[in-house]
Amino acid sequence: MPDLAYLNGEIMPIDQARVPIEDRGYQFADGVYEYIASYEGRLFRLEAHLDRLEHGLRELGYAPIPRPHLRSAIAELFQRAGYARAGIYIQITRGVAPRNHAFATTLTPQIVMTVREIKAIPADLRDNGIQTITVRDLRWSRCDIKTTQLLANCLAKQKALASGYYDAIFVSDQDIVREGTSSNVFAVSNGRLTTHPLTPHILPGITRMAILEICGEIGLEFSESFFTRENLYAADEVFLSGTVTEVLPVIGVDDRIIANGGVGPITRQLYAALGAKALDRPDVR
Ligand code: PDD
Repeated sequence: MPDLAYLNGEIMPIDQARVPIEDRGYQFADGVYEYIASYEGRLFRLEAHLDRLEHGLRELGYAPIPRPHLRSAIAELFQRAGYARAGIYIQITRGVAPRNHAFATTLTPQIVMTVREIKAIPADLRDNGIQTITVRDLRWSRCDIKTTQLLANCLAKQKALASGYYDAIFVSDQDIVREGTSSNVFAVSNGRLTTHPLTPHILPGITRMAILEICGEIGLEFSESFFTRENLYAADEVFLSGTVTEVLPVIGVDDRIIANGGVGPITRQLYAALGAKALDRPDVR
């Protein structure tokens, strides 16, 4: 089945899609994006992803893009590819113009999408957990906007991999735990979950939101509050959440073993509950 691209209204094989070199996304990372997954042929939380995308467009002062237009473009690309477990990448940049930091407000946003099959995270990592490192958060202070400027995230992930870890977790100058390079972070202590509150320092993850919803449904206590790297080291369980990550157990942070180094029961329970939710409550059938 084909990996496809959508380029301003046209669908084509990915390797045939081209954008002009003066696209501001290319030169200034002046772009926002979303990454949406499907489960058994149904997109998970499409509307929530579109809400977040529109938040980014608004905050950066882009020309608005009607939601029905985006919705139908996504649906067409998704259906044409036909993957049961698809990952749809959507990128909107401010437009194409001769290079200049200032921009005209009349630019036409460029809409690019790709669809590929999601490669499953290896079962060993899901079953036994991952090792992570913490890194100083060097990113800008509007991480609530899902912009394409991901260099700090890429460098942090690469640093983790190069040193034999699976991922990196951003911490502030004061050692506040922010989020992963492409995920949110949860700590569990005494049966209670804690995750960073929704501030401009983190992305409001759609999976994070689904997990908090699940906690409410099954009666798990949680708090959206700041916690430190020391709190992370001392937690009973730690996990990452994200669209591809889902709920991924963390068994090590900076060479500290979390609890006894095993995957905790709440992490397992939430992974199963998220999978069930993804199949039960699709946005698009
Ligand atoms: N990233 N935090 C960051 C910095 C992220 O990049 C992501 C997701 C998340 C989790 O958000 P969600 O649950 O909505 O996927 C948190 C996507 C998957 C990416 O960059 O491809």
